Amino acid sequence: MRKLIKRLLDPFLKLGAKKAFSKPRPFKYDGIEVMVMPEVFPPHYTLSTKILLQYLKPLKLENKTVLELGCGSGIISLFAASKKAIVTASDINNIALTALKQATVKNNLDVEIIKSDLFQNLTSQGFDYVIINPPYYPKNPTNIKENAWFCGEDFEYFRNLFIQLQNRSDDCILMILSQDCNISKITDIASKQGFKLEIELERTMFTERNYIYKVSSKN
Ligand SMILES: C[S@@+](CC[C@H](N)C(=O)[O-])C[C@H]1O[C@@H](n2cnc3c(N)ncnc32)[C@H](O)[C@@H]1O
Repeated sequence: MRKLIKRLLDPFLKLGAKKAFSKPRPFKYDGIEVMVMPEVFPPHYTLSTKILLQYLKPLKLENKTVLELGCGSGIISLFAASKKAIVTASDINNIALTALKQATVKNNLDVEIIKSDLFQNLTSQGFDYVIINPPYYPKNPTNIKENAWFCGEDFEYFRNLFIQLQNRSDDCILMILSQDCNISKITDIASKQGFKLEIELERTMFTERNYIYKVSSKN
């Protein structure tokens, strides 16, 4: 039934979203404002970003090092910075990074911004927190915006992520996934590289269930 409703609503939602995201749109959380460019992941109507923000809210982040891997608009990075964390935001999307730079000035918050394919250009070998809201639909992205949604036909994003994590010493890696994606496939890829995914938080909003997972070594 849920799938049928979704299928019926989908064309209208897509049309609405296309219209809504054809121009820069502000997004606000807790007094922080970012301008979300049309080429950047929109946190407005998706749930994942908001669930991560709510999860971070009660945490004591003062002087903790935080990496938002694939920061998009950077609202999570700015929020962590407002909680006095030492924040690094990375992405492969230049448009997102330029807009985030402007948002740091506008909000008077300090975030180190680095263009990086996963961990490639990051010098720190370990953060206290790594926050990941990954692309998870199995399709090859054809433009910079699609990198926010598609992880590659063969889940290349996750294959590379878990390979790179093997050489790192991050304390707490948090990754959000939706029931809409192939969680068992992602868990399997993680497991083959020596990682397990444990549910840290489960949240159902509207009809969609999301999970924040803690990623850790199996040993
Ligand atoms: C679902 S969006 C999440 C954006 C933001 N973290 C949020 O929660 O609103 C995924 C982000 O990951 C970025 N991304 C995709 N592949 C990447 C890669 N290989 N390295 C770094 N960032 C990547 C995308 O450009 C996009 O900004």
